[in-house]
Amino acid sequence: MTLVIARTREELAAARSSFGTIALVPTMGALHEGHRSLMRRARGLAGTVAVSIFVNPLQFGPNEDLDRYPRTLSDDLAVCADEGVGLVFAPTAETMYPEGRGTGVTVSAGEMGTIVEGASRPGHFDGVLTVVLKLFNLVRPEIAVFGEKDAQQLAMIRRMVADLNVPVWIDACPTVREKDGLALSSRNRYLSPPERVTALSLSLALRRGAAAAQDGPAKVLTAARAVLDEAADTEPPLELDYLKLVDPTTFHEVDEEYVGPAVLAVAGKVGSTHLIDNTPLYLT
Ligand code: PAJ
Repeated sequence: MTLVIARTREELAAARSSFGTIALVPTMGALHEGHRSLMRRARGLAGTVAVSIFVNPLQFGPNEDLDRYPRTLSDDLAVCADEGVGLVFAPTAETMYPEGRGTGVTVSAGEMGTIVEGASRPGHFDGVLTVVLKLFNLVRPEIAVFGEKDAQQLAMIRRMVADLNVPVWIDACPTVREKDGLALSSRNRYLSPPERVTALSLSLALRRGAAAAQDGPAKVLTAARAVLDEAADTEPPLELDYLKLVDPTTFHEVDEEYVGPAVLAVAGKVGSTHLIDNTPLYLT
C-alpha cells in the first residue's frame, strides 16, 4: 500500500474519501515500538491504518517541554511505511489552531482532569481531549487505538466518547517495555545513561507493588514506595511526583477494603525529564 501524507485539512479531506474503514492511531511522533504496537493492532481492525503526528501545544503547560519535544518526521514516515500505514495526517499548529486557538472553545476534562496526572499538569487533559476530538472530526475514523501506557488519558478518552456520543470505537494496547522494564516513551531519549538507571525505579516499583496485590492496597503501596524512596537517595535522584492506587475508570484512589481491578500509577522527574508509568493489577 502506498503511504498518503496529508499536511492540511484539504489534503486530508481529499485523501480520506478514497479509503474505506479507518483505524486511527493518534501520536505526537518520535515513533517507537510502543507506537508500532498500536499500528499493528489497528491493522487488524480496519481496512486502512491512519496515523496522526502532531505535537499538540494545547496539552503542554508553560514550564513543560513543548519546545524540546523531539520532532523526527522523516524517521516517523519511514516507521509508518514499514508498518503498512495507509494515511499519515501531519498538520502544522496553524492548521489545527488557526489564529492561535480559534474561538477558544475546548473540551473540558471535568473533575477527572484535575486528579492524579491532572493535578500535576493543570489543563493537560483538556488539551488532550480537545485535540483528540478535533483529530476524530478531521480524520473521521471508525476506530481509534490508544496505549495503556497513558492509562488516565485512555480512561478519559473513553469517558469523552461516552459522554459526548462520539461515534468512534476506542481500542487499547498494553504498555511496551524495554527488556529491563523501562516503559518506552518518546521522552526516554532525553535521559543520560545514569538518569536511565534511576528511571528504572518506576517500573521496578510497579512490579514490586503488583506482586503484593493479594495482600491488599496498603501493602501494594508500601512495597512500591520502598523502591521509590531508595531511588530518591541515588545520584541522580528520582523526584517522585505521585504514587497512587486508583480505580481504572474513575482514577479515584481505592480504599483499604477495595477488591477488584485497579491501576497503580507513578510519575516522577529524573533530571529535567517527566516520566509516567502504570500497571494494571487485581486486588483480592
Ligand atoms: P504519544 O505520547 O505520542 O503517544 C501516542 C500513543 O502511543 C498513546 O496512545 C500512548 O499511550 C501510546 N504509547 C506511548 N508509549 C507507549 C508504550 N510504551 N506502549 C504502548 N503504547 C504507548 O499520547 C499522546 O501522544 C498524545 O497525548 C495524543 C493522544 C496523541 C494527543 O495529543
